[in-house]
Amino acid sequence: MREMMWIFAVIIFSVCETWGLDTVVRNASFNLGSDVNLTCSNEPRSEVIYVLWKIDLKHKECHIAYTNDGQSTDSCNDGKSLRNTPTALYLHIPNFSNDDVGVYQCETVYTGGADAHIINMDITAPPSISAWLEWKGNKTVAVCKAERGKPAASISWSHLENSSSLKTWSGSDGFFTVESHLELPENMDPKTLSCTVRHPYWEEEKTLVPKLTAATRPHFTMMSICIVVIIIAVLAVILFFAKKKLRCCGVAGR
Ligand SMILES: *[C@@H]1O[C@H](CO)[C@@H](O)[C@H](O)[C@H]1NC(C)=O
Ligand SMILES: *[C@@H]1O[C@H](CO)[C@@H](O)[C@H](O)[C@H]1NC(C)=O
Repeated sequence: MREMMWIFAVIIFSVCETWGLDTVVRNASFNLGSDVNLTCSNEPRSEVIYVLWKIDLKHKECHIAYTNDGQSTDSCNDGKSLRNTPTALYLHIPNFSNDDVGVYQCETVYTGGADAHIINMDITAPPSISAWLEWKGNKTVAVCKAERGKPAASISWSHLENSSSLKTWSGSDGFFTVESHLELPENMDPKTLSCTVRHPYWEEEKTLVPKLTAATRPHFTMMSICIVVIIIAVLAVILFFAKKKLRCCGVAGR
């Protein structure tokens, strides 16, 4: 009887694969660090004869399979597992990370049918954010940065939005860094300016006030040192000529 079932399962499979029947393709994105549960079929678990997950990740390909006679195989060995509850059989991915991004293909055979799903799994990861003031010539520039988020964050300013410029970079790992620069008018007090960062990972937007930071201060001190050195040099030159003149006039006077 069991062998009959297997033959049946294999036939159903071939039909599905050949004709692409019942293959549902969907895209899904999960939050970094979340625990993900994926089901392959809505059939009651008691009806399931066989489940196979073929997982195609960036750095490896592996599979996890289960048959209702208690056999299971797992070539992933990375914490993913098939979990049983009285009502469902699902693939459990703990602590979802960028390494789990990829194409998850599953095939289920149950008494009376078969299902195939392809899930393109992506990650939603929050960027780290910062804002500061810097100097460009005699202009003050406010900078707001959202680093390594997925998807890209969006940045807006409390005012002067239309004079800001936006740069976006994407790394080979698919994470985005977004930086917005805003040149302040001379008479403007930077304390009244703020930037707002929005990202799907957060329920609420985040607001930052660009401030002088430790990173911008050394630049400032360097400039002060330069000014002091120049003043000393000028004074030395003046002193040199003044002395020369004194000597010359002293000589002339005699
Ligand atoms: C989740 O994974 C990250 C690294 O990817 C690790 O730092 C963190 O401790 C993990 N969290 C749990 C609850 O295992
Ligand atoms: C920005 O918009 C304001 C009005 O909202 C306008 O007065 C100003 O000229 C604009 N600046 C630029 C750089 O387009």
